[in-house]
Order: sequence, then C-alpha cells, then structure tokens
Amino acid sequence: MQFIHQVEPLITEREVAAVTTYLRSGGWLTEFEETKAFEKEIAAFIGVDHAVCVTSGTVGLYLALLAEGVGPGDRVIVPNYTMIATPNAVRWTGADVILVDVDPVTMCLDLDSIPKDHNAKSMCYVEINGRSGRMDTVQSWCAQAGVSLIEDACQAMGSYESGRLYGSFGDCSVFSFTPHKIITTGQGGVVVTNNERVAASVRKLKDFHRVGAGKDDHDGIGYNFKFTDIQASIGRAQLASIQGRIQRKRSIFSHYAEQLSGIPELSFLQTTADTTPWFVDVCMPSRAIRDELVFSMKERGIGVRPWYPPLNHQWPYRSAGSRFPVSEDMAFRGAWLPSSMGITSTQLDYVCSSIKDFINTVDISASSSRVREEIA
Ligand SMILES: Cc1ncc(COP(=O)(O)O)c(C=O)c1O
Repeated sequence: MQFIHQVEPLITEREVAAVTTYLRSGGWLTEFEETKAFEKEIAAFIGVDHAVCVTSGTVGLYLALLAEGVGPGDRVIVPNYTMIATPNAVRWTGADVILVDVDPVTMCLDLDSIPKDHNAKSMCYVEINGRSGRMDTVQSWCAQAGVSLIEDACQAMGSYESGRLYGSFGDCSVFSFTPHKIITTGQGGVVVTNNERVAASVRKLKDFHRVGAGKDDHDGIGYNFKFTDIQASIGRAQLASIQGRIQRKRSIFSHYAEQLSGIPELSFLQTTADTTPWFVDVCMPSRAIRDELVFSMKERGIGVRPWYPPLNHQWPYRSAGSRFPVSEDMAFRGAWLPSSMGITSTQLDYVCSSIKDFINTVDISASSSRVREEIA
C-alpha cells in the first residue's frame, strides 16, 4: 500500500478544466474578473457583504488587524493553542500578543482565562479545527470589552453555529486556502466582512494603497498582496463542490469515530453535527504515547502528525513564569490522523486497525524521548 499522508489536497477534473479554460481565455493571470467572481461567491457562501482575496491566511490576518486600526502599542488577545501564523500576524503590526489558555472541550480560547487587566484592542478568536460553539458569548464579551473581534476561521470553512457559517461572526474574518484546507488554491486567503470601510481598507493595503483601481496615485504605503486569476479559477471550481467536500470531511470523521470510539487510550474532542473537522484530531494519554503513535504509524506507512505545540513553548512566544494548564497538557498529547478528502475506505480501515494494533501492543513504559528526537 502507498504511504498514506496525513493530508493531501483533492484536485479533480473540474479544477483541471477550469484552469485550462482560464489559460485559453487570454486573461493576464494576475487578479481581475475571475478573482472578483470568486470573491462574490465566497461572500455569498459565508453570508457576508464583502470578500477580499489576498496571498495567504497570515497576510489576511495582518491586513484585517491593520484595517481594524491595530498597531504598535496595542494589545491583541490570542489563544495559546493555534497555528503560529495567528500571533505572528499580530506581531507584524507591532502590537503585543496576550496569550490566553483554551477550553479543554473545544481547544478554543477560554474567555474565563482572559486577564481582567487585558487592555486589549482586538481579539483573534480561532475556531480551531472547525469548533467553537459559543460565538454569541464571544461576540458579547468583545462588545462589552470594546474589543474588535477578528475570527481566524482558517480551519473552519464549512463549520456552522446557530445556522450561521463561521466567518460571519467577527468584525472581520479570515480563511486560508493552503493545500490542506477544504478549499485550496495552493496558497492564498480571503478576508470577509460586512464592514465596507474594513473591506476597502484591506483592498487598498493589498494593492499599493492606490487611490482607485487602475490609478497610479497612492495616499499611503501599501503592499503587493494580490491574488491571481489562476488561483481564483481553481478556487471557484472547488467552491462549486464545497458541499461534497464538507460531507467528505464529516464522513471521514465518522468512520474513525465508529471504529475507534470506546478505546480508553484514545479520545476524540466533542464534535457536533455543525462541525466540519478539517483534520481528525485525537488525544492520547501522554506525550510519550502520542509520540510513539506517530513513530509507529510512520513505520506502517501512515502519516500521523502531532498537534501544534502550545505557543508559549515556541521560541518567539516563550514567556517566563506563564502557565497555561489546558493547552500545555493537551497540545502535547494530541495527534491528527490521516484526513485527506481522497482517502479510501480501505485506507481508513487500515489506519484504524493499525492504531488498534498499536494500542494493544505498545509498551507504554518504553515510550521515550528517543522517539520524539527521531520524529523531529
Ligand atoms: C488557524 C490558522 N491561522 C492561520 C493560518 C495561516 O494561513 P496561511 O498558511 O494561509 O498563511 C493557518 C494555516 O494553517 C491556520 O491553521
């Protein structure tokens, strides 16, 4: 059997046809009509007024923060468990990151752990792996505190709450289109918002701060963070099949849940019918067993990936004396199982039986840092 990657993009004939048609159309490759159409379709799908495509989710977060007026001297609340792009985007603006521990049920930012004297201007709330379940509370907390809410929905395309898709709750929200996302354009991202001023500001910032389309006058220092119409043609083809992609992610999760539930050494995070888990995430009893699992699956031709380390254990965000009990415990025990949309039932069965076999035979006491070193 071929190596089963933890995740691979799903590219179909629909995308091949879309790119071919675009390339034959005489378009100039850079962003133009195809990108405008993709932005309209994304906005309609999420249920917001504006969508602005940029070069990545990280850049989207950065421009969203700038558009919300975040800059040097400001403070932004970020969960201690997220991909490092979230706090990096804050740091790019010159603002300081306030790390906050997460809730053990969802691994999302725990509002009760925010320090009373936070003095924050914004919050980057991450619906990690499509979970949250408490956006009303997050919105009211931000409104009461006078903090703007930026949803980092990079992992949450296709997940709902109260009948609304994530990405529609924040003052502005950001999605990523990297190859392991539900929709991918290779690289890329999109900022979505109902606020016309924010959308206009992101548009200006990403296009050299031009005073208007096609004009070579500039009233500020902007960037070149533009999208391309080739990417947009792929994105449009994928968006057309979004419901199938969502269903596929959900059925992969169900397959694992059916076969692996009830094993005491392996636990799933609570997943509601509204959640579209981007990756199938499980928690092991200890870091050593998690590391042994990753190592042992690799030997069997299966890619299992450890969760992100908590941010306060990453060099740029180390802070002496700070403690984040939930993220520091759970992040080191978590693993992502193979979750490609193209994974077959036979492959899923093989992964499940390999995991069961591992759990039945692993010598837990022998799991050691040797394994961690080899994985690194
Ligand atoms: C939660 C989160 N935020 C931000 C990003 C950054 O997105 P990009 O890789 O498109 O810059 C990612 C990417 O995986 C992510 O998972």
